[in-house]
Formats: sequence, C-alpha cells, structure tokens
Amino acid sequence: MTVNLTGKDIISIQELSREEILAVLENARSLKNTPQPKLLENYVMGSCFYEPSTRTRLSFETAMQRLGGRVVGFADPTVTSTKKGETLYDSTRIIGQYVDVIVMRHPLEGSARRASEATEKPILNGGDGTNQHPTQTLLDLFTIDECQNKLEDLDIALVGDLKYGRTTHSLAQALIHFNSHLYFVAPDSLQMPNYICEELKAKNIKFSLHEKIDDVIDKVDILYMTRIQGERFADQIEYQKIKNIFVLNAKMLENVRPNLNILHPLPRVGEITTDVDTTKHAYYFEQAENGLYVRQALLAMVLGKLNK
Ligand code: CP
Repeated sequence: MTVNLTGKDIISIQELSREEILAVLENARSLKNTPQPKLLENYVMGSCFYEPSTRTRLSFETAMQRLGGRVVGFADPTVTSTKKGETLYDSTRIIGQYVDVIVMRHPLEGSARRASEATEKPILNGGDGTNQHPTQTLLDLFTIDECQNKLEDLDIALVGDLKYGRTTHSLAQALIHFNSHLYFVAPDSLQMPNYICEELKAKNIKFSLHEKIDDVIDKVDILYMTRIQGERFADQIEYQKIKNIFVLNAKMLENVRPNLNILHPLPRVGEITTDVDTTKHAYYFEQAENGLYVRQALLAMVLGKLNK
C-alpha cells in the first residue's frame, strides 16, 4: 500500500495509521543514511512557537534547512501581533499565505486543531498544552526501533508526569499499534489520564499502574523517563513537593535487562542523574538527534516530496 501524506496536518498521533507511522520511520532512516540537501529547495516553513522549546524548534528548523528549504518564524509570541490581541486563527490564516508548511507549538490544548482550520497549508503540531506531541512520538518510535531492533511486543515503562506530559499521551496511543506491554509509573495525582487507559483497554493492550520505578525497572526493555511539568501546575507548592519524586541513578541499573534503553524527551531537570549518561543503557541524546531525521521525513512527506 502506498502511503501519501501530502497536505496532511499532523495534529494528533491518532490520525496516523500504523502504515503511515512505519512509512515516516522508513523515510527517516533513509534520510539519516542519505542526506538530501535539495529535496525542499524553494519551500518555506513557518516556525511558530508560542511556548519555549529547544529540541522541537531547532530540529525542525535544521531539518528544513538541511533539505534546502528556508525558515521564517518566531520563538517568542510577544514579538508578534498576538501581543496586540490578534487571534490564533487570524495569525495562522495570514502566515499560511506566506509559507508552505507551519510548525506550531502553543500552550493551549486544541490550538493546533484550531490553527488547522485557518489554513490549507499543513500544520505540524509541535506540542499543544498537555494534549499531544505527535512528532516527538514519531522520533520516539524511530529511536525504540533503532535501539531495540523492533517495535513489536516490547515491555515499556513510562515514568513521571503522565497527567500533564503530552509526550507520554501520544506515545501510549501510538504503542497500541505495536502490542506493547505498558507500565505507567507516576504518583496517583499524576497518573495517565482515564481516557487513554480506556483506549488501551478497548484495544486489549496490557498495562498496569505503579508508584515506584523499582517495581518495574527489571521488567522492561524501555524506560521512558519524563520530567514533572512544573509549568502546568496551578499550585506551585504542590509542584515543589512532588518535583523530585523520581530520580534515576546509575546504581538503580544493576539488575536491569541487558537490552534496557533509557529514553527521555528532554529537557531533564534532575530526574536522571548524569552518572546514567555513561552507562550502556542511556539513549536519550541519540533520541534527540533522531528528531532531525524524523522531522525531515515529515516535512518532505507533507510537502509531497516523499511517499512510501
Ligand atoms: N522534547 C521536546 O519537546 O523538547 P523541547 O521542549 O526542547 O522542544
């Protein structure tokens, strides 16, 4: 079956089929091995970041430039007419008249969907509030496949802030396609939202809830750490109490599976100590690099320059 993502918005990981996900990963592998410096020559990407980012913004912008395309945009909405009260709809409608594809990050859930109603140009959601981060999930899947040599039938723990962490929402939903056994490790107040647990149940995906890393660390192939999302807490006293609840250090890795890989969408703010970085299990820096290839593949696919 040919996969064709030309013109498609990537708003939620649930809008991509298993075949489409695998096609993105295959194209990303190809671009990792064989750079294509002219593939997107004469195309322009709008980079619209209404919320801070290092990896998502810079890897998308680098991806576009390494494919020969150009980038316009902003990393700080206070320098745009948003500051004067312009709506997201109006801004996106205008930006869509200037560029060929828009990458957007925004603090509000549903913002990427709203933006997609304002323009025919593809919108790639770089994270909308606590909701979704589908391009992160694609690079997570690429990385899991790269370090485990498969995507199917893996035991995977998601650890940290599963309530507010959009990367874990998208990833849990994507793993439905690959028959994973999932372990959700979080304090009760930050556990995986019910709507996602219900989706997993409906698809007969095995999962269990835990409060300690030690309960799962020797049972899994992938330990996906996340930070507690301080910026999402209404009550900062509550955040201060909970922010250091999970700290992974090298000593905790003594009895893990030999093939265990530790991933993290980054940034980390203390939940993985630096002594883990030099263990054979750490794979989060490679994971961040892979964002470049996966985002190259996505840009080329939605712009109709790569199919599979
Ligand atoms: N993983 C991720 O989204 O990182 P940034 O917030 O730095 O983009």
